[in-house]
Amino acid sequence: MAVVSVIVGGTQGLGKDIARRLAARGEQVYLSGRDQSRADAVAAEIGHGAKGLAIDLSRPHDIAGALKAVPAVTNVVIAAIERDSNSARDYGIDRAIKLATLKLVGYTEVVHALADRLTPNASVVLFGGLAKERPYPGSTTITTVNGAVSSMIRTLAVELAPVRFNAIHPGIIGDTPEWAGKAEALERTIARTPLKRLATMEDVAGATLFLLDNQAVNGVNLNIDGGWVLT
Ligand SMILES: NC(=O)c1ccc[n+]([C@@H]2O[C@H](COP(=O)([O-])OP(=O)(O)OC[C@H]3O[C@@H](n4cnc5c(N)ncnc54)[C@H](OP(=O)(O)O)[C@@H]3O)[C@@H](O)[C@H]2O)c1
Repeated sequence: MAVVSVIVGGTQGLGKDIARRLAARGEQVYLSGRDQSRADAVAAEIGHGAKGLAIDLSRPHDIAGALKAVPAVTNVVIAAIERDSNSARDYGIDRAIKLATLKLVGYTEVVHALADRLTPNASVVLFGGLAKERPYPGSTTITTVNGAVSSMIRTLAVELAPVRFNAIHPGIIGDTPEWAGKAEALERTIARTPLKRLATMEDVAGATLFLLDNQAVNGVNLNIDGGWVLT
């Protein structure tokens, strides 16, 4: 029977790229976005029998029901994000609540909802981001939630052992939709990056597959940024 994988936030960007790779290696992929028809369309584009799910992580009470159709699962990747610009001087409480709910309560509720269906060799990869260490104007909520993802994997790895929990913290991934048309900002980051290029979706997907597959890596926060955080 095929290994089952769930990719939450799999309709575009990093989640979609990872979903495509897991499907191509023969896994039964369930990928989600907020909208069922969009998720179905992306699943059909990926092929290999991938299925779409509608999950809105900012509505955590609905998550368990949305995951009901998923059978016993081995690989879980949670990459969903709805970005928010927020600062202490110009604080939007509703926006902050939405993002904090999505990344903190929503990510945890996905794990809670699937907990009884995780196989003993299951692996979960959560997406934080390098804003946890490198704040920028307007990143207050993003910096806070991405920092919290670092801690979340540690408690989940202990509570749900032997299931493994790790996190990816991307720097600026230049070929994601998020950075399309922002060449100037990308050039500034390249100039500061020891690698002299940006990390790519392929780099992030490779790191994610490593965390999913390696049976001894657990509780690890992995920056994928070409060393940007060092400068
Ligand atoms: N791209 C980067 O350079 C970068 C840098 C640092 C960190 N990251 C992190 O890496 C992860 C992936 O980033 P990305 O740039 O690839 O994302 P993205 O292209 O913006 O895609 C976001 C995904 O999340 C889904 N989504 C949006 N709102 C949602 C909600 N309320 N509930 C559930 N799903 C929702 C979207 O699906 P629908 O629109 O179909 O609903 C989509 O599949 C995120 O956690 C992000 O914080 C990325």
